[in-house]
Amino acid sequence: MTLILGVETSCDETAAAVVRDGRTVLSNVIATQHDLHERYAGVVPEIASRAHLERITPTLREAMSEAGVQWSELDAIAVGHRPGLIGSLLVGVSAAKALAWSLGIPVIGVDHVLAHLHAGQLEADAAEFPALGLVVSGGHTSMFMMRSPIDVTLLGRTIDDAIGEAFDKAAAILHLGYPGGPNIDRLAQRGDDRAHTFPVTLFDRESLDFSFSGLKTSLLYAVCGQPVGRGVEAKLTRDASTLSTAQKSDFAASFQLAAVTAIIKKLKRAGLRHPEARSLLVGGGVSANTRLRMELLSRAKEAGWDLRLPRLEYCLDNAAMIAGLGHELRQAGCMDDWTLSASAQSSIVAT
Ligand code: KG4
Ligand code: ZN
Repeated sequence: MTLILGVETSCDETAAAVVRDGRTVLSNVIATQHDLHERYAGVVPEIASRAHLERITPTLREAMSEAGVQWSELDAIAVGHRPGLIGSLLVGVSAAKALAWSLGIPVIGVDHVLAHLHAGQLEADAAEFPALGLVVSGGHTSMFMMRSPIDVTLLGRTIDDAIGEAFDKAAAILHLGYPGGPNIDRLAQRGDDRAHTFPVTLFDRESLDFSFSGLKTSLLYAVCGQPVGRGVEAKLTRDASTLSTAQKSDFAASFQLAAVTAIIKKLKRAGLRHPEARSLLVGGGVSANTRLRMELLSRAKEAGWDLRLPRLEYCLDNAAMIAGLGHELRQAGCMDDWTLSASAQSSIVAT
């Protein structure tokens, strides 16, 4: 039996969790900072790193006491050390290294994006490989071919906005709060998804990349009208304040349909290219989206994939997924030393 403490501070959640044998979650504590960033409609890096500093110690203590585990019982500390906001990552990495050093146990650096792919195996049995991986979050939209949880190749990624970022911007255009994804999701359930036609960017027939910035701009112009004037002088003539809730719901549903369709079409392409895939592992905040979950279920059924959709609490950033993938890395002998550092970039880049 192994007990791993996971630490996550890559963006705007300070999180810690204790996980047994990579899949049994004994505690999963998340201190969000949404209230601090809401007025800016996005995460302010400097505010985020200061808030992590204040929250990290109480969050770690709470995770340990909720799990009912003594510090001396831990086998390793896993920490999300890339990608993310560098100042935020450094808080988690420093805390994890200090703790591991004082306890005399290994520290394991975990790639946050790959950890999202582990979320569907928490509180569940192990998935079968090879598998396709899909991460849909506020910072990432990527597809992967996975020969094992730690042997992963990038198949495609967004060339501009991440899908969650597009949801957040759509919510801002429609005057809904931040983070916008859950608000669009809720409103879309009452809307007509055929009320507006928004573009689905597919690139050429071979491409497994994504693009969501054109979709976001189409929504902006549909809601606010075409800009009048040029360059910095350009002005929008309307805003969402004149829209009824029914009209906003139609915009939300139509936007969501286009975003989800892009994901499903690219998954179909990836599946044709990799018929050996037995499972589809999904993770990231947008995997909480009701419509996407529904469409993924039917795509996986058609393709015969064992679909691993995380439980809702493991879709968003959390430290249980970090501890879970940390366990896989430890099993494979991939551990770090005190030179472990943070990086803004993911370890899995286009080849
Ligand atoms: O994975 P996550 O917590 O952070 C990153 O690693 O980026 O994802 C946060 C993103 C936000 O953009 C948020 O709006 C989106 O996930 N999100 C959703 C839903 N719940 C969260 N997007 C669409 N529908 C949802 N239900
Ligand atoms: Zn994330």
